Amino acid sequence: MTDASAETDLDVICARGPEGLLAELTHRCPLQCPYCSNPLALDRANVELSTEEWLDVLRQAADMGVLQIHFSGGEPTVRRDLEDLIAEAARLGLYSNLITAGVLASRERLEGLAECGLDHVQLSIQDAEPQNADRIAAYKQGHEKKMTFARWVRELDLPLTLNAPMHRQNISSLEAIIELALELDAARLEVAHIQYYGWAYVNRAALMPTREQTMWSADVVERAQERLKGVLTIDFVVPDYYAARPKPCMGGWGRRFLNVTPSGRVLPCHAAESIEGLAFDNVRERRLRDIWLNSDAFNKFRGTDWMPEPCRSCEFKEVDWGGCRCQAFAFTGDAAQTDPACNKSSRHRELVALAQSEAAGPPPAFTYRRIQASRTKESVPSA
Ligand code: FES
Repeated sequence: MTDASAETDLDVICARGPEGLLAELTHRCPLQCPYCSNPLALDRANVELSTEEWLDVLRQAADMGVLQIHFSGGEPTVRRDLEDLIAEAARLGLYSNLITAGVLASRERLEGLAECGLDHVQLSIQDAEPQNADRIAAYKQGHEKKMTFARWVRELDLPLTLNAPMHRQNISSLEAIIELALELDAARLEVAHIQYYGWAYVNRAALMPTREQTMWSADVVERAQERLKGVLTIDFVVPDYYAARPKPCMGGWGRRFLNVTPSGRVLPCHAAESIEGLAFDNVRERRLRDIWLNSDAFNKFRGTDWMPEPCRSCEFKEVDWGGCRCQAFAFTGDAAQTDPACNKSSRHRELVALAQSEAAGPPPAFTYRRIQASRTKESVPSA
């Protein structure tokens, strides 16, 4: 292994290390959501990092000053060593968040995870309406299991965040989803409009809401935020395609977060492998700190030197850090281009026109996220 001592004159923020690490323990998952943030080419179980390798990743992360570990997947509870990893995170003083679909773990397992030191649970939901939720996830009685799981989380006094990815096929349930978060005693609800890369890019026409639906959802959230101050925190992620300014994706490339895939590749964001031509280092061959500070992939779009015009002379370049590189690649074929979500991009009008025309047409069938048939079209009955 190469060691980390060749530190260069990177800016103070990068030298301070990342705040959070997303540990994608596995790509195995019983759900098949058509907007899954995993890559189109999924890792199989036989290439996953071992328990010892993940423990070493956690120790290296703590050593770098990482504060939060998000155990994710796929479905992280399929890993039988999750208890060991959570216990080690607790021993190292890392705040642990379990990002789960909530359909596999028993109450006893959840209780055991809490005893190991789990700090927080983030549960994904597909809708407030069970039949539609199960259709979107392609998993029978999944919604019912999630509701039971959410109640266990609160019975065990763990803080609960509900994550509700939002799109044209569940947006009409937004008010019911907010009520559901209250009923389940969640502390936080994330109403996150889908971001279009990877599986969501493949399913874009099936997921894209209209501008009117989007504005309605923003209005509903704003009123709920006001009404529920001190009771429920609601985070709202706007859909890029209807935004005027790009989001500071990941807080800026290589500035605050890193992501370790099931087989150990280290990425600046969960979708970075969708960018063709970028090579990613692996924790099996190189130390995490060295990858963070010195790897080509992390330095490629870090800071502002890489920016083209109009980003380079834009007053917001250190606010949005150029937006999303994965979106720029997905839409323009060049990750170094201005994010087309920005209204200063020459491609912005095209992006908006495409969104509007897809949202106006009938939704095509989902291409479900599957390990074996990643691009197989599946027709399922409408809700
Ligand atoms: Fe990769 Fe935005 S998701 S930079």
